[in-house]
Amino acid sequence: MNILGIETSCDETAAAVTQGNKKNQSVKLLSNIASSSLSLHAKTGGIIPEKAAREQLRYILPVIEQALKKAAIEPNDLDAIAVTYGPGLIGSLLVGVETAKTLSLVFNKPIIPINHLIGHFYANWIDYNRKLIFPLLGLLVSGGHSDLILLKDHNNYECLGGTRDDAAGECFDKCARVLGFAYPGGPKISQLAKKGKPTFPLPIPMLESGDLDFSFSGLKTAFVNYVAKNFKLERGKYDAETESWIQKPLEEQLSEKKLKEIYNLCASLEHSIVESLVRKTIKAAKLTGVKNIMIAGGVAANQKLRLELKAQCLKSGSHFFVPSVPLCTDNAAMIACAAFYNYYPIPWDKLSANPQLYFD
Ligand code: KG4
Ligand code: ZN
Repeated sequence: MNILGIETSCDETAAAVTQGNKKNQSVKLLSNIASSSLSLHAKTGGIIPEKAAREQLRYILPVIEQALKKAAIEPNDLDAIAVTYGPGLIGSLLVGVETAKTLSLVFNKPIIPINHLIGHFYANWIDYNRKLIFPLLGLLVSGGHSDLILLKDHNNYECLGGTRDDAAGECFDKCARVLGFAYPGGPKISQLAKKGKPTFPLPIPMLESGDLDFSFSGLKTAFVNYVAKNFKLERGKYDAETESWIQKPLEEQLSEKKLKEIYNLCASLEHSIVESLVRKTIKAAKLTGVKNIMIAGGVAANQKLRLELKAQCLKSGSHFFVPSVPLCTDNAAMIACAAFYNYYPIPWDKLSANPQLYFD
């Protein structure tokens, strides 16, 4: 079963083709193409929704063409078209959804709507296929979400907990911003953290909350306030000539002592976020008795989180699954793969984008 996946929920314009084998229930990735408009947002250091959508409109057809070409699949050879219909930025979602509807009508192919959040988990099916056995405990950590989900089967899940305010990715991004870095901040903080030690007594959020929820806004405020009080940093800015985000390197702005302090602060922030995510996930595994644990979403690319959760899973006798790093952040391969295992086509004219979609 050849499925074209389309993903345009945020800044990416992505298309992929997967080939699913119904007999042995496995999925092979034939192509995975993405074009990001991130450099375009350098002027503000963050994503401007209207600009993202306008750029996606320009790229969606070439990206789809490239995905089909790389997979050596003609539109007529497709069995279905899968598309992210929410959550996300409305203008961006519309580009993918309306393109998918048009292709569905023109080539007479079924259309399969996919929830972006659930889609993230299916990056694991591309890498592990049949090794994933239900029930599974899933930790979704992206720019907008930090959720613990019990997956009982395909299309049968329950939300066990979520963030009450900022998501883990958002906390990384906002803390990186006060250090002058543009979006996405997670990889930057992680890079600086590698040079330091977690010596700052930052809180590990929600340890005693008695539930499976997260909260990262207090941690973010503690970090931001400390930096504002103790450092004079130049804000990064947009350079029209090179059309990129420029920032005087921290090494040129700070003394060696102050620089070390920043490294330690970043290591402490990463430590607190990772500890909070890992401890709540292990707690959820204990409460539910589930032995198969997987993570997904952009923050799952974080090396410390991958290593720490793997170590804790091994310690508690659980199996641990995590997508390869390129499949953690937004991509269309996970959307096409999700559609193979959740094959619920709907008529093209019944599909509309839903920016507020959660786990329904
Ligand atoms: O899943 P994703 O690509 O987009 C959303 O659906 O939100 O996640 C993006 C988030 C950003 O907050 C980014 O800073 C974070 O993932 N991220 C990381 C790393 N790579 C991406 N956070 C920590 N460490 C990383 N290596
Ligand atoms: Zn995402």
